[in-house]
Amino acid sequence: MVEVKNIVVIGVGLMGNGIAQISMMAGYNTTLVDISQEIIDKAVVGIEGGLQKLESKGVLKAAEVLARMKTSLDLASAVKDADLIIEAVVEDMDVKKNIFKTCDDNAPPHAVIASNTSTMSITEMATATNKPDKCIGIHFFNPAPLMRLIEVIAGEKSSEEAMEIGMKVSESLPCLRGDRYVAKVLKDRPGFIVNRLNAPGGIYMNYLLDTCLEKGIPFESLDADLGQRGPMSSLVLSDYTGIDTGYHVRNYYADTLHEDFRPGKVITKMFNEGKLGRKTGQGFYDWSKGRPQPDFSKIKKAGIANPTVFLAIRLNEGCRILEEGIASGWKVIDDANMAGMNAPGPFEIGIPNWEGLVKLLEETAEKLGREYLKPCELFKSGKFVDMK
Ligand SMILES: NC(=O)c1ccc[n+]([C@@H]2O[C@H](COP(=O)([O-])OP(=O)(O)OC[C@H]3O[C@@H](n4cnc5c(N)ncnc54)[C@H](O)[C@@H]3O)[C@@H](O)[C@H]2O)c1
Repeated sequence: MVEVKNIVVIGVGLMGNGIAQISMMAGYNTTLVDISQEIIDKAVVGIEGGLQKLESKGVLKAAEVLARMKTSLDLASAVKDADLIIEAVVEDMDVKKNIFKTCDDNAPPHAVIASNTSTMSITEMATATNKPDKCIGIHFFNPAPLMRLIEVIAGEKSSEEAMEIGMKVSESLPCLRGDRYVAKVLKDRPGFIVNRLNAPGGIYMNYLLDTCLEKGIPFESLDADLGQRGPMSSLVLSDYTGIDTGYHVRNYYADTLHEDFRPGKVITKMFNEGKLGRKTGQGFYDWSKGRPQPDFSKIKKAGIANPTVFLAIRLNEGCRILEEGIASGWKVIDDANMAGMNAPGPFEIGIPNWEGLVKLLEETAEKLGREYLKPCELFKSGKFVDMK
């Protein structure tokens, strides 16, 4: 197996600069590439700042780490000595394919070419190269230095060796908040593991929000039903990540998995009216005076949401992930969810009462008229219990 010494990170915006920082910290010579000098300069300042902070805590010597950094506006020359290339440019298939082609034409033949895409097909990107066996996905979570999870994804033609290189390098990248966890994703399917696991909860959420609209129930009462989840409640979190993001994600899964994912009336209306949450100052909550802190002890519950339904939906989706051969066993799914979402996965919690959850989901799918929520064959059979 090739020993990776030189990594090139292409696109050093939000994601790329964090990826470059941990690459340098792990000891790799790292080249930051972008089309904009201004963005490169901003990324360098951000990385320097991050490293200075770590130096003040005695974790490392910033100058030593920075000595491994190079920057470039010229992709073709930047990849000449690359062993591993990670692209984190805009989420646009044509742009990504062009980059894969330039890398294929200019990097050494052994170089592994990886994409940090959240939604696009690695298999399709690889068609732009003559070495689809060298192409993989390496999916980081935002921000890469702090989020424990990395998913390493096999495209249809990725070689076992390219996957091993991706896994080994990813495992070597430091995480500043807890231990790094790298999940091997065996198939290039929408959402990979963690985003896929959590996506169909949006179908139930659409129903709950639209029920509020129909019955004139305030959204904060629905939020009170769902309760506090970590530092933010469900709807504060939706506002925080952006209603536009929720809208686009739902459409993406509707286009790639099932029509039932399509945004409901409430999300569509908010998107069209520009009530996007934190970034526009108004979403489910008013953000003009900072992050809203609903006091659920004083808010009347709507009494329409059953949190156990979310568990049943996630357990069902976990079974689909196993059925489709995306993960090797349910422990990987549970561990990946903990590392990527800071929340336990559905298996460990759900298995003791899986038959009850199947029944609950059958009733829910029937009541909501949502085919995608019906329990899959593996879930109904209970055979997943042994697929740890
Ligand atoms: N933002 C997230 O939370 C997140 C999480 C996981 C994965 N991703 C994925 O990471 C990728 C980047 O996302 P982001 O949020 O960092 O985007 P971003 O817009 O912050 O950064 C993209 C960067 O790519 C640069 N770029 C565009 N075209 C280029 C080219 N031809 N060559 C070199 N650089 C180019 C841009 O100048 C910009 O700096 C996307 O594929 C996205 O799906 C994002």
